[in-house]
Amino acid sequence: MAKPVTRFVCQSCGAVTMKWAGKCETCGEWNTIEEEVLAGRPGPAGKASAGKRVSFVGLAGTAEPPPRAPVGIPELDRVLGGGLVPSSVVLVGGDPGIGKSTLLLQAAAQLARTGKRVLYVSGEESIEQVRLRARRLGVSDTSIELAAAINVRDIIASLEQTKDAALVVIDSIQTMWLDSIESAPGTVAQVRACSFELIRLAKTGSFSLVLVGHVTKDGSLAGPRVLEHMVDAVLYFEGDRGHQFRILRAVKNRFGATDEIGVFEMTERGLAEVPNPSALFLAERRGNIAGSAVFAGLEGTRPVLVEVQALLAPNPSGSPRRSVIGWDGGRLGMLLAVLETRAGVRMNQTDVYLNIAGGLRVNEPAADLAIAAAIASAAFDKPTSPGMVYFGEIGLSGEVRQVAQAEARLKEAAKLGFDSAALPRRLAHGNRKLAAPEGLRLEEIGHITDLVARFAPESTKNG
Ligand code: TYD
Ligand code: MG
Repeated sequence: MAKPVTRFVCQSCGAVTMKWAGKCETCGEWNTIEEEVLAGRPGPAGKASAGKRVSFVGLAGTAEPPPRAPVGIPELDRVLGGGLVPSSVVLVGGDPGIGKSTLLLQAAAQLARTGKRVLYVSGEESIEQVRLRARRLGVSDTSIELAAAINVRDIIASLEQTKDAALVVIDSIQTMWLDSIESAPGTVAQVRACSFELIRLAKTGSFSLVLVGHVTKDGSLAGPRVLEHMVDAVLYFEGDRGHQFRILRAVKNRFGATDEIGVFEMTERGLAEVPNPSALFLAERRGNIAGSAVFAGLEGTRPVLVEVQALLAPNPSGSPRRSVIGWDGGRLGMLLAVLETRAGVRMNQTDVYLNIAGGLRVNEPAADLAIAAAIASAAFDKPTSPGMVYFGEIGLSGEVRQVAQAEARLKEAAKLGFDSAALPRRLAHGNRKLAAPEGLRLEEIGHITDLVARFAPESTKNG
């Protein structure tokens, strides 16, 4: 047997060093380096074997689109890019308790109902706990085969016997354990080695593998970012535990688009799909309150209307607070500076609180106009018109810039009964005419001063 090999691995970025250090040289994190002992080198012991010849082929040739098996949960299938691809590996990440096990048990049950063979390996919960959840979800009668196991060698030996499985779920990868590595489950070394073995099996077999991964408090997948490179798709399941909405977001997908989202609602009996998220996100909106504006946003290919709320409070201390939920704090700072410098809206003695209602996270710069409208509305204590949606990016000189997919946004607004939209000014030349849905009035806003003028009382308009 080979002499044990010791090395040091950063638990945050996976960098390997020969010496222990307090700070990782690669990612700069402190106290993340841990010793790792390999019982022997992986692979065949003894002399390195001579390599086999790799065959190279030309670029022309048939590349069939990968076959897909729709799971039967449209919100999930959309995020997957149409369904599960055989021999592919999907990583589903999310905070503990957000609903990953619930989603995957429901997905497994849907697939099992179509007659496919589905294996569910739970390393976190006992058989009894999973059965309880299955009962709650009403899926106890499906043909899912369940095992409680954490030893990857045992799992692999069992999977090699079951050639006809369509889906294998490993819940979660942080609980898996491989005996050739001496660190504890959940460490980078274990997570990486276990994933590697399981992924290798999936690639040679014909089943889809789903790995569940927990997310640490700073938002990265516990342990290795390395894992994200090893899998074909990474989906994040996010949401605020205080809200019932859950959003499944693709951050990487070798077989589909990465900006798609699926929207779910956590109910007493599991996750329910939300085919019309706009209606849900606007459900609790109260009209006629200053500081609220509706943003016509886009998540992937899908328009989503959300309410933006701003609250301003006087703070004479000279160091006002800026607090943001659901949007980028840096971008809020920029917008406040533009409002102040270009439109004269003073904010230096005002605390600004900004919230995207419903727990959604908005990443689009197109939200600028809606956010500026909410802030201006709060600053002058004048409500935005209740039937209006806003979208447009704001540049540093205060100009309102074009954004993609204006038509889809307008259509969604019309569908939900809005009667007007504030949007960037159409370019005079070259731009094709915007087809506005019937009954929707378009109000073009060329500059942030035009926006502020809608809220500011007459006397301050020119001063
Ligand atoms: P779970 O799927 O166990 O989360 P994860 O695997 O991501 O850790 O879901 C946990 C939460 O969901 C738990 O707080 C209870 C809640 N829940 C419901 O509200 N309804 C349900 O039908 C189920 C199964 C769970
Ligand atoms: Mg779980």
